[in-house]
Order: sequence, then C-alpha cells, then structure tokens
Amino acid sequence: MEVQAVADSSSRRTKFILDEERMPRSWYNIVADLPVPPSPVLHPGTGQPIGPADLAPLFPMALIAQEVSAEREIEIPEPVRDAYRLYRPSPLYRAHRLEKALDTPAHIYYKYEGVSPAGSHKPNTAIPQAFYNKVEGTRRIATETGAGQWGSALSFAGALFGLEVKVYMVRASYDQKPYRRMLMETYGAEVVASPSLTTNYGRRVLSETPDNPGSLGIAISEAVEDAATRDDTKYALGSVLNHVLLHQTVIGQEAILQMEMAGEDPDVVIGCAGGGSNFAGLSFPFLGRNFREGTNYRVIAVEPEAAPSLTRGVYAYDFGDTAQMTPLVKMHTLGHDFIPEPIHAGGLRYHGMAPLVSLLKEHGYIQAQSVHQRASFEAGVRFARNEGILPAPEPTHAIKVAIDEALEAKAAGQPRVILFNLCGHGHFDLTAYERYLSGRLEDYEYPAEKVQAALAALPRV
Ligand SMILES: Cc1ncc(COP(=O)(O)O)c(C=O)c1O
Repeated sequence: MEVQAVADSSSRRTKFILDEERMPRSWYNIVADLPVPPSPVLHPGTGQPIGPADLAPLFPMALIAQEVSAEREIEIPEPVRDAYRLYRPSPLYRAHRLEKALDTPAHIYYKYEGVSPAGSHKPNTAIPQAFYNKVEGTRRIATETGAGQWGSALSFAGALFGLEVKVYMVRASYDQKPYRRMLMETYGAEVVASPSLTTNYGRRVLSETPDNPGSLGIAISEAVEDAATRDDTKYALGSVLNHVLLHQTVIGQEAILQMEMAGEDPDVVIGCAGGGSNFAGLSFPFLGRNFREGTNYRVIAVEPEAAPSLTRGVYAYDFGDTAQMTPLVKMHTLGHDFIPEPIHAGGLRYHGMAPLVSLLKEHGYIQAQSVHQRASFEAGVRFARNEGILPAPEPTHAIKVAIDEALEAKAAGQPRVILFNLCGHGHFDLTAYERYLSGRLEDYEYPAEKVQAALAALPRV
C-alpha cells in the first residue's frame, strides 16, 4: 500500500521551478487597473491630502514616487534582482499528499516563500527598501516587527547594502521568540522590545501600563518617532503601504507562470492578511487579470478572529499607528487604540489593513474570512504531517481556508483548483506549536467591547 502510494506519486509533478531568467523584471501596480480610484492619504494635522514633502522625512523619494504611482509596471533595479536571486524564483508545489489525506478531488497548490534567507516573503520588499535608502544616502533605518519575520528581513537587507538597522520588536513576540532576535542581531541589527524605554512614546506607554504586551501599532509609533527625530535615519514599514504591496507582486507574477507550467488555472486564490502584503503579493497579479481580461479568480483574505479588521472593522480614515503620528489612510480598521490579544500569529496582530486591500474588499472584488488560532494551528499541523514543511503561524490561517475549500469540493463532488500563499516557515515558532500540541493554546473570542471603545476614538475626517 505504502509503496504503491509512493510509486503513484513519483509519476506526478510536485514542484514547479522557474529558471532565474524568468524572475519578474518589473513589479505589478494594481492601481493602474483598479475600477475605483484609491482615496487620498491625509495629513493628520490639516486633514488635507499629503504631498511627497510630507513623507520625505520618513522615506526615500524613490519609494514615495512608487507609493503614488499609477504606472502598471515599475522596473526592478538590477541590484535588487541580483539580491532576489539568492532565493527567487521561489517554488510552487502541488500538495499531492495533503490532497490524498483529505480524499478530495480538489487540486491544491502552494507558493512557498519560506525559502528566503529570513524565512518569509518579507525580503521581497526589505531588499528594495534598503536599496533605495542606500542610493539616496540613508545611513540608518528604524522599523517595527511583529512576528520577527519583517525585522529579520530588513536586518538581512541592511547587511546586504551596508545600513544600520534598529528594530522595535513587539514585546509579546520578543518574549515568545528569542531566536528571531538573535537572528536579527547576527545580521547586525539592534533589537529592543516594544514598548521600550528608548522613545518618548514607549516610556509613556510603559508608565501607564508596565505589563503592556505591545502591538504593531505601538511599535510603529516608536520606529516613526526614532526616524523623525534623527537626521541620519529613515523609517521602513513591512506591510500596509502601496509600495510594499507592489514589491510583493513578484510572488503572484511567478505563480502565474508556474500554474501555466502545471497546466492549470486556480479557481480560488488564498492568502493570510495582517497588513495585507503577502496576500496582495500573490493575488494582485491574478486580480489584474480579472480587471483587464475578465477572468474570474475568486480571491480570499484570511485574518485572525482576534484582529478581524476586514471582516468586522469599519472602512474609515484612521491612523496606522497607536500614537497618531502616521498620516491618515482609508482602510478597514478596528481603531488605532485597539491592542489585539497576544495570539501567536504576531504578524496578524494589527488593527488596520492595507488601503488597497480594504478598497478591494469594500467594493466586493475580494472576500474575507476570519479564523480562530486553534483551528489554524490544527490545519498547520495537518499540513506539516503531510507536506513536511512547518508553516509559520500566519499562513496556517490560509491553510485552514484552503483545506475548507478542498473539503467543500469533496462534499459537492466537484473539481476545484486551489492556490494559497505559504508565506513563511515556522522554525522560530516552535513554542507556539508546543502550546498547541500540549493543549495549552487558547482561542480569544472577538473582543467586541474593546473594538467598540477603540472605534469611538477614530479621528473625525
Ligand atoms: C510569515 C508572515 N506572514 C504574514 C505576515 C503578515 O503580514 P502581511 O499581511 O503584510 O503579509 C507576517 C508579518 O509579519 C509574517 O511574518
């Protein structure tokens, strides 16, 4: 039986590998194809649309230009492509063994971004962000990290281009994942737990709540304060902004070519969504086809029940950070004051969502679902036991919905082609897996009252 199963599967293709030559030469900008224009970004003081000069203290001009660009294709500079070659193109897998375990007629594919040096999709934007900063003379970059994946990615990219990196790591993750901190330090970065004593805002938060577990919103405030108060320092964000989502589109562009190699077209495209970048990276090139060519890819963003901005938040102007230092963006938000429970998918603990992803959800071009952490870990373990790769806690949310789709296809007796983004590995997340395996992982109910209170503090625009 066992031998037969292996013999059957050996005749089927499992990995779809692109030659380096076929790595994308440009990023895909969905703004060029959107049926509805994006809302302007507003100045937090005046409530008026901001201009490049307002962002110049934080970002290099090349990234500001990308942030507001409506060009469909933006060329990837050669030094960035050269660094991408360290791990790109990333493989696409067909999950034959998971399909068999589920006894489903569905075909399941996953794009695996865990092959990058940092272990996730985050270097796809860390590398160009470090590159453009270097070209424009930045010496030092400050940033936040939730899961530790973004901090690792920027630390790695900083090492490649000779930039100092300071990382404000959300306290809950700092305590759960000491090895992530050590990886960042090995790349040469300086890491502090956020809230920290090194910024005015961090000191204020700690004086009011000494046991604060931190949040991405607080860590962003600290990193922005750091960059805004030093001439030699710029700020870098690992998600949410248009230019970050843009850089991630190498994922979906490669996946389109790899699905062609497999001779299939996905019915449904799935990604987990914290700030929205890995989800956008995989799905935007497919959505671009929907807009331009009339294809009908169904696209699902999956978020945690503990921070369900797309499924339960309001679509409104809000701050990207807790201290109200960032510009106002129109997005699905739970309120900038909202601090999600310390779930293990640290990268999904964010009160807001990328404006571009929010716009697509608001106008019905994508769907969204929320998942509890125990159900997502159950899916992650099931995946690991069949496919071998240990997923990061974040993409277990996408895996859960991919499995649900496969089981639905089985119940309906229908074929279905499912593609999801396995955006990172979980080798530094074993504490979370241990808690799950020993029955100590808790689900957090949707905190309706906390969200209500946070929404009451939304800025009036
Ligand atoms: C592995 C992984 N997946 C997903 C996310 C969520 O971010 P985004 O929604 O921008 O992909 C993170 C963020 O840290 C992450 O580390």
